[in-house]
Amino acid sequence: MDKNIVLIGFMGSGKTTVGTIAGRELCVKFMDTDDIIVDSSGMEIKDIFAQKGEGYFRLLEKEAVKTACRVSGCVISCGGGVVKNPENVRNLKENGIIICLKAGVDAIIERIGNDDTRPLIYKKSRDEIIKLMQQRKVFDNSAADAFIDTSDMDTIEVARSVIDIYKSHI
Ligand code: S3P
Repeated sequence: MDKNIVLIGFMGSGKTTVGTIAGRELCVKFMDTDDIIVDSSGMEIKDIFAQKGEGYFRLLEKEAVKTACRVSGCVISCGGGVVKNPENVRNLKENGIIICLKAGVDAIIERIGNDDTRPLIYKKSRDEIIKLMQQRKVFDNSAADAFIDTSDMDTIEVARSVIDIYKSHI
């Protein structure tokens, strides 16, 4: 396994859970850009947003993507906003198959609507979340090599589908 499996998609679409399962099934390392940021900065994501702002977070995120892209044959889960920066997408594509996990707004709200670790959607209205999802969709659609609609699937099914797509792309 040379190329990485790169998971993108909106917050709460299941990237971390699915990526962990896919990594386990394939016996390869799983990495998460948010974890890299927390490790390198020694701060939690919500504290970076609160104390340093989103711009600073995006700089750390760009470095985290570069770190993740140095490996090969791994599963990499990306924070939902990684795709906003074309340099990130270029780096990830160079050595990876990018798979976008899609979920509907109701599933997203049910999973993480009240999660204070996601500063961009914490305490936001349904309409505000829909608006952000629409903005992100444009970036996700242009970055992804493949998409999985996770609506009617459990996480193991999604992980198996990720693996199938990966195998069909290499
Ligand atoms: C963000 C998504 C989060 C995290 C940060 C910003 C975003 O990651 O990177 O809160 O801009 O969409 P997850 O997608 O893993 O929740």
